[in-house]
Amino acid sequence: MPMLDNSKIEEIRKSVNIIDIISEYLPLTQRGRNYFGVCPFHDDHSPSMSVSPDLQIYTCFSCGATGNVFKFIMDYENLSFMDAVKKVADKGGIDVNLSLVKSKKIVNSEIYEIYSIARKLYQNNLNSEYGLEAKEYLAKRDISEEIIKEFGIGLSLKKNDVLTNLLIKKEFKNTDIIKSGLIIQNSHGLHDIYSNRIMFPLENLEGKTVGFSGRIYNTSDTSKYINTKETEIFKKGEILYNYHRAKDACRLSKTVIIMEGFMDVIRAYTIGIFNVVASMGTAITKNHALLLKKLAPNIILLFDGDEAGEKATLSCIEELANVGVIPKVVRLEENLDPDDYIRKYGKEKFLSKLENPINVMEFKMQHLKSKINLNDSVELAKYVNECLKELNAINDDILREITLKKLVNESGIDESLLRSKLENKKIIKKETVVKEVKHYDKYEKAQRNLIFYMLNSIMVIKKYIKKTVFLPDDNYRRLANKIRYFYEEHNNSFNVADFYTYVNQSDNEDLIKTLNNILNMNLKEEAADNEIDDYFKVINDYNIKNEINKIDFELQKSDNLNLKKEKLKKLVELKKREGKND
Ligand code: UTP
Ligand code: MN
Repeated sequence: MPMLDNSKIEEIRKSVNIIDIISEYLPLTQRGRNYFGVCPFHDDHSPSMSVSPDLQIYTCFSCGATGNVFKFIMDYENLSFMDAVKKVADKGGIDVNLSLVKSKKIVNSEIYEIYSIARKLYQNNLNSEYGLEAKEYLAKRDISEEIIKEFGIGLSLKKNDVLTNLLIKKEFKNTDIIKSGLIIQNSHGLHDIYSNRIMFPLENLEGKTVGFSGRIYNTSDTSKYINTKETEIFKKGEILYNYHRAKDACRLSKTVIIMEGFMDVIRAYTIGIFNVVASMGTAITKNHALLLKKLAPNIILLFDGDEAGEKATLSCIEELANVGVIPKVVRLEENLDPDDYIRKYGKEKFLSKLENPINVMEFKMQHLKSKINLNDSVELAKYVNECLKELNAINDDILREITLKKLVNESGIDESLLRSKLENKKIIKKETVVKEVKHYDKYEKAQRNLIFYMLNSIMVIKKYIKKTVFLPDDNYRRLANKIRYFYEEHNNSFNVADFYTYVNQSDNEDLIKTLNNILNMNLKEEAADNEIDDYFKVINDYNIKNEINKIDFELQKSDNLNLKKEKLKKLVELKKREGKND
């Protein structure tokens, strides 16, 4: 990983105010000293995210998201830590020596350049006299000039090897030319792969061209589209078509729509639906699922209306389930794909479909039903059993109830019989976020509260150092000691937002989790001195009790009289100290 030193990172963080930065993404309102907004990291409509100008930290009390300005940008924009730092530096007007933040892209800069040259060439071709027929084709499909520009649509010519010749003239190395996947080498030399196709640039998550898909338009060919082969920088399983354009719209609407084909996405775009991406005909990968999950809390699967689209929907549901996401589904009639549907039925009808997606259970029932004859009792029984199996997998009691009623209606089977087939599930209320409510005993509470106030106040850190108290829990002790270390390293000053970066760079998952968890505690901002003293006392008591138990145990085990005497003496001392402070 490219590194900037910590003091530079702290300087960058201090160059901005988290309130200003988060305000660029969502509206914040001040209430007391803190600011509040609707958390973008879970599905919510009430302002559960609080941002503290004093601490320069945000916390969502509903979903537990927390962090400093870097973390916010990393999660919102799906950027690496270093890229988030760069972005903040930009906003804060701090010059980061770019050579320090060299990343993988530079390694492939030649290849990126080839794609960029190819893209321009194809676009010029489309606008030349050779592009008239292709333009006509696009016009017939209702693709406007504006859309052509926006998506960088172009044309490869029938004429031989235009791109090859251009790249050779520009003195690219043969190895790079071949590596790009746009040119192939045979016994006669280098040749363009694409000839006489409408060219759609494929872009990575940042919007850089990393390949093309070329469509036939006036010929018949066995392959409708030809995609650039996968390279180091282009992996279909890691890319979603239109991701970089859709990102902001997905955040704003808290919804991402996923389609199969990029022509569908382009069509959606023409009618003002921007929060849409495409998997480009491949099955959704785990990688895709994680990307979608990060993009928006609501996911709508809008695949082609044919059987292949139905299968793709099912497998996408599985893949999303593996990362803990339950999407909604829209199915289109007459085997239409979204592009066809919009062109046939128009914007309004399409939007109303989009606004009424069905839930996964309903989709699965429809799917199962489509394969059977409901009048055949054997098939009906099989259907009901399959549905019950699916129903048992649902954790949402209300949805279970609704679905059960539906099943009763459809099958005519007695409700009590169906109900008896349902597993007795512990009922989990449907909530957008199920936050774990954990109960801590008073000793753990004391440690947690103590750390919380250490993070909030230097006075408490000082007290911690002076008292040399031993926190019995490993994670809490490590965290408290890290705070102490950080404080001393910074000439007896402490800033929780920088400390957050420091802990998050440590790769210690437990520690990061513990810190997040404590930052998320909804305590009042300041504690009185005697409250803090109380925490120390509770922790001390715990340690003494532990020690007493240990000695008690040893006493019972030992036969050595002298040793016993000594231990007893110690025990008396300890008992005296019990309940006292320090
Ligand atoms: P579709 O066959 O559904 O294409 O394939 P489409 O979106 O309807 O395209 P048009 O309307 O005929 O122009 C969906 C996706 O599968 C990939 C493409 O990425 C396409 O967007 N695909 C399809 C290929 O890669 N190669 C093919 O030959 C066909
Ligand atoms: Mn189509």
